[in-house]
Amino acid sequence: MTLKQIEKWKIAAEQQLSPNAFGYLSGGSGSEVSLKYNTEQFNRYRLIPRLLRDVTKIDTSVELFQSTIKAPILLAPIGFHTIVHESGELASARAANASGLPFVQSTVSSFSIEEVCDVMTESDHYFQLYWPSDDDVAYSFVRRAEAAGVKGLVITVDTPVLGRREIDLAHDYFPMDEGAGMRNFLTDPVFKEKYVTSEDDQTTLKQKIQAILFNQSLTFDKVARLINETSLPVMIKGILDPSDADYCKSIGAAGVIISNHGARQLDSAIEPLEVLAEIREKVGNDFPLLIDGGVRRGTDVIKAYLLGADSVLIGRPYIYGLTGGEAGVKDVLAEFITDVEVNLKLLGANTLADLSKTQVRRL
Ligand code: FNR
Repeated sequence: MTLKQIEKWKIAAEQQLSPNAFGYLSGGSGSEVSLKYNTEQFNRYRLIPRLLRDVTKIDTSVELFQSTIKAPILLAPIGFHTIVHESGELASARAANASGLPFVQSTVSSFSIEEVCDVMTESDHYFQLYWPSDDDVAYSFVRRAEAAGVKGLVITVDTPVLGRREIDLAHDYFPMDEGAGMRNFLTDPVFKEKYVTSEDDQTTLKQKIQAILFNQSLTFDKVARLINETSLPVMIKGILDPSDADYCKSIGAAGVIISNHGARQLDSAIEPLEVLAEIREKVGNDFPLLIDGGVRRGTDVIKAYLLGADSVLIGRPYIYGLTGGEAGVKDVLAEFITDVEVNLKLLGANTLADLSKTQVRRL
């Protein structure tokens, strides 16, 4: 497979999935200007090779939160995997596990935290929290994640409401309509106790979950309290403002994920790479910064690293791969790793740490 063929997984997804499901995966919010420029942002930079170095000892791995990961690539939290393939998050997690890359499980996954934990025997498993508008349910998810043995939490803070994804509005579609993404709620003791009755049918359950799924009154104070109360490292996802990033650091976050949510939230949100250097400058060198949105090639991973990110996350490439089940996701991940490997060698380096910051230049 080549990266051009990763594009083929998108075509496979378009051909095999319903227009509703494909629209949900591929769309962005509003004008989709951020969707366009998320992939374009990497083309504003070029790389400078340094040659006549021995590159026989290639090693793409990096350290992230005291773990060695095969390459600085995480599988981003994406909800509702069963709209793509019946084995859903279990297939994606197995592929991540076998590839040595971390898997970030969404709150709105079609398999539970515990079920995904059972699969993640070798690689790191993170749980992404959409903080529900009921704190008891939020804390119950966190306690379950701790008990299941996840590596860390990712709190997504750019979603007080869903962005206006016009394709989904036109289709009048939300994946829970298909029964996807409800499992963490339906297996949660607190949610069941407080909200579920024996008369509830599927539609009622969906409505009850959607009524508390997002939280418009979440503030830094609440996140700070959670950081103090959990034993897990907490990354905050969706940050684009340097002062916000610095504030995350000051309240004890373990790191920040610079992200515009794959261009699905604020219409016209800035491309993450545009603010990376400024955020790095603000928070200093020792604070983990991850970035996502539009990463499609090994050189995108390398550019993000050179510009100050510790790691990237990929979203759509692997979820399109899931059209082919676990094998499809594995193909995509292997291709990314190979592309990092080959281009590192062409840059004259055996490891990412060998690279010099002078090897990337903005046009
Ligand atoms: C997402 N994203 C997302 N983020 C999150 O924190 N929780 C979630 O449940 C989801 N769900 C989700 C569904 C789909 C279909 C997409 C495409 C994205 C955002 C995701 O984590 C990530 O930020 C972007 O996908 C990265 O951009 P690319 O790689 O898709 O361009």
